[in-house]
Amino acid sequence: MTDRNELEPIEKASIDELRALQLERLKWSLRHAYEDVPHYRRKFEAAGVHPDDLVTLADLAKFPFTTKADLRDNYPFGMFAVPMDDIVRVHASSGTTGRPTVVGYTRRDIETWSNVMARSIRAAGGRSTDKIHIAYGYGLFTGGLGAHYGGEYLGATVIPLGGGMTERQVQLINDFKPDIIMVTPSYMLAIADEFERQGLDSRACSIRVGIFGAEPWTEGMREEIEKRMGLDAVDIYGLSEVIGPGVAQECIETKDGLTVWEDHFYPEIIDPQTGTPLADGQEGELVFTSLSKEALPIVRYRTRDLTRLLPGSARTMRRMARITGRSDDMMIIRGVNVFPTQIEEMITKQPRLSPHYILEMRREGRLDTLDVIVEMRADLAGKLSVAEREAEEQLLEHHIKSYIGVSTKVHVVEPGRVERSQGKAKRVLDLRPKE
Ligand code: DLL
Repeated sequence: MTDRNELEPIEKASIDELRALQLERLKWSLRHAYEDVPHYRRKFEAAGVHPDDLVTLADLAKFPFTTKADLRDNYPFGMFAVPMDDIVRVHASSGTTGRPTVVGYTRRDIETWSNVMARSIRAAGGRSTDKIHIAYGYGLFTGGLGAHYGGEYLGATVIPLGGGMTERQVQLINDFKPDIIMVTPSYMLAIADEFERQGLDSRACSIRVGIFGAEPWTEGMREEIEKRMGLDAVDIYGLSEVIGPGVAQECIETKDGLTVWEDHFYPEIIDPQTGTPLADGQEGELVFTSLSKEALPIVRYRTRDLTRLLPGSARTMRRMARITGRSDDMMIIRGVNVFPTQIEEMITKQPRLSPHYILEMRREGRLDTLDVIVEMRADLAGKLSVAEREAEEQLLEHHIKSYIGVSTKVHVVEPGRVERSQGKAKRVLDLRPKE
């Protein structure tokens, strides 16, 4: 069997080799989309472009964007580029409104996905000798099965728990002694709490590396999890429309943002308002074009995720910075733009507060207000006096006001009052009257 513990040749290729491969694959992918998906043909024609117009990578900017609405309008299978007989799997993401977006995979797509996931786990420090505990949800969500196939492809031992049944997660971590855990960062915290509840030392557990993603998280959260679990926490990114998890992965040796697996997924950053491509280093909306996908070629997909592209470090491929948030998650409070991650960063700086929090948006008159509900640390349960609690609230309000520029009302509550997530955390509760 091939040794999948070693870097693949493309991970060591020069920039020139990589760009040449991308160009060749991009030509194939655009042609495939145009010839095999009527929706793309119509959109290309309406924009007056043809796959032959792509001569250099920069020509990609001439092609129209794809959005979630395109997938919804062609629900369920209208964007597939191969006959149903060649589709071996579908996944779907629920989204907040309306129909789910459905994605499909050929056998070769599953192979590609397993490959990039195995590569991601390896970049995170995983090896074929490791046991991997998977607590991402299984099912239509791509997290569980994506991690699962990647772990197997690497040759590791996969322990397919899925999300939920937190007591059992702790029991099996203790009994099976996994080396790696793959889970959302918010659910990792809930598992860490459960260790404490059972009187167990979470730092002493066997886990060496945590591969965390599927939701925005912060450096403060990384420190918190690393400290509580005694592991190295690294970031994994992906989305179902592009393939699932494994589009980009942070390398353990640098922990400096996520290496984009650019040989399969071509990234661009655009100005979210105008759609103009931005130079590397500038923050904007992340856009992906698939370079090798058969069942669902995706052309310039607008992720709504905000980040910037950085030069390669541990690999030649470019990195993306940690995601600040989704443009849909941006709150505008009295004219100030705020992302939940900015508030999280402030919370994690305050030693008496835990990172279990929820943000509530309300409307007072014509203005939106923001309440921050945050738990005190578990070991402080019932121990803070009213005055101490108020002091914590005022301190956080002050930090949020001075660093982010927005006035909030902070409520420090007893541990256990904020609902725990078993997958992607919901950070914002919108209590404003519907228009
Ligand atoms: O969340 C795939 C995934 C599973 C990624 C497991 C990582 C680990 P979707 O359900 O389609 O797919 O949601 C994709 O989740 O556009 C981002 O907004 C968000 N997201 C995913 N990874 C990260 C991350 C999976 N590391 C959407 N940081 C994306 C911030 C993330 N946001």
